[in-house]
Amino acid sequence: MSTLILKNSRELPVGFCDSGVGGLSVFAKFKNIMPAENTIYYGDLKNVPYGSKSKSEIIGFLKNILDFFKSKNVKAVVLACNTTSAVAYDEIKDNYDFQIYPIIQSSAKILAELNIKKLGVFATTATIKSGAYEKEIKKYNPDMQIYTKACPGWVEIVENKTFNTKESIELVAKYFNEIMEYKPEKIVLGCTHYPFLTGMLSKLSDSSIFIDPAAFFADFIKKDLINKNINNLSKKIGNEEFYVSANPQQFKVSGELFYSIKNNPVLL
Ligand code: DGL
Repeated sequence: MSTLILKNSRELPVGFCDSGVGGLSVFAKFKNIMPAENTIYYGDLKNVPYGSKSKSEIIGFLKNILDFFKSKNVKAVVLACNTTSAVAYDEIKDNYDFQIYPIIQSSAKILAELNIKKLGVFATTATIKSGAYEKEIKKYNPDMQIYTKACPGWVEIVENKTFNTKESIELVAKYFNEIMEYKPEKIVLGCTHYPFLTGMLSKLSDSSIFIDPAAFFADFIKKDLINKNINNLSKKIGNEEFYVSANPQQFKVSGELFYSIKNNPVLL
């Protein structure tokens, strides 16, 4: 991770990015524990879903977003997206002077320390293909058995809010039943869109089996900003800006489950 710290940077904003509304599952947790931080969220709806795209396309999407955040003079960027963390983070991490927090690498230690032998991971096709979850968790716990399942189509259910259609119910059940053949003790929701499916998933199993890394990821970022002395010390609630590359109204409506966006997102 980049370590160059700007002077007097406490008030600079923290950027959050994802292909769409998924990153709001992380953003909401972060705002809850760091309310004073000024924030900028970028949803790349023009290019959603990332999970079916090639590595070079995903790197290109992330570069554009990070260049945008650079122009906004951020102190840090949260990759609230497993796919960019898995596929593009290593390629861009040394190119920017602000702190970059990738969700998989930042959460792996806590997952590795779970007192279980068999861990399942639901994620996008690109994340699963990268092997990032296995690689990062095994750094801390080489003995953990990890069973991964790509879930193409789940991101679209969330972005389009088609939770209760017959097709969506069948698609969620299909990947759930497939991963359960391995009898995992816990299953990571390894795409930030998937916590939006908790209502559907909890009809298939006790919801305590599912792990949303957002809470401990937000906690990790909080501790790191404090350690680096760049957390905002203001007593006021921080500013919020939202930007999208397409469909601002859809973003606002679909994101409501996790965060109520007051102003209309700006279309770039
Ligand atoms: N929410 C993102 C992730 O965590 C991207 C999903 C997608 O656009 O395919 O992987």
